[in-house]
Amino acid sequence: MFVEAVMCPETEFAKRRFLLTSEQDLRAIVASSAETVLVNTARSQVAVDGADAGKAQKSVDPVVATRTRTAITNNINALGDTLDMIRQGEAFDFDALQPAAASLVDSVTEAPAVLLQMTRLKSKDQGTFVHCIAVAGLMARLADETGSDSDTVQLLTTAGLLHDLGKLFIPDAILKKQGELTDAERRIIRTHPQIGFDILKRYPGVPQVVLDVCRLHHEALDGSGYPLGLSGDEIGPFVRLSTVCDVFDALTTVRPYKRAWTQEQAIHWMFDRGHLFDRKMVLTLGRLLDAMDPQ
Ligand SMILES: [Fe+2]
Repeated sequence: MFVEAVMCPETEFAKRRFLLTSEQDLRAIVASSAETVLVNTARSQVAVDGADAGKAQKSVDPVVATRTRTAITNNINALGDTLDMIRQGEAFDFDALQPAAASLVDSVTEAPAVLLQMTRLKSKDQGTFVHCIAVAGLMARLADETGSDSDTVQLLTTAGLLHDLGKLFIPDAILKKQGELTDAERRIIRTHPQIGFDILKRYPGVPQVVLDVCRLHHEALDGSGYPLGLSGDEIGPFVRLSTVCDVFDALTTVRPYKRAWTQEQAIHWMFDRGHLFDRKMVLTLGRLLDAMDPQ
């Protein structure tokens, strides 16, 4: 089998991408402190345990696919309405978002590939809403996979729905600009996590983790992120999880001025930047995506 990456808590395998051909090498990995191994089934020359199960999930029953598409479309519209209300300064009830989050968790559990298909292409007008739906869906799957209980999965899904709320207050001329941003425009865009946090904080009943994801999803492990420049352990696991899902969706989105990266390219790019992203989360997402791949 073709090994893309081996994740060990103590030492990393120096040669991360290699064709594993011998039983002896396999035993060496199993006996090591490796926690996660990312296997590229497409480049493997033998059937890999788990790959068949993954393929089985890729073919979605047409009835389920239609039902899931309808549910996700409803989610996008409901989220659009809710975020518009917040933008216009109307009352916002955090609990009112819970049915949308629960429906999204159901959709992404039942037919994850449909979510990826639907959210890859984002129109200019619905870009932020659809991105939030995609990130929320990915966060639901990743939270579930990393052992969160169902209440936490739903909470993180809601956090994903709201994470880019602050972008609604960034001028469209900057947010929807086609092409490179100037330094000044980039500085303005970078205010969105703090803006979103300041707005959410005004409403009662918004859990701390939702506030944290909104404010901190652009922080980086080496301290180079924004708005606070937190580093390492200052960035909690739920925020790390949100960052990985957020960046993955951004990289794999089709935009008018750039081709979308493949899922594999995005996972590799993030894995190679362990100074920015939590590699364990990246690997777990990569493993999940292999089973979700809509292509
Ligand atoms: Fe953001």
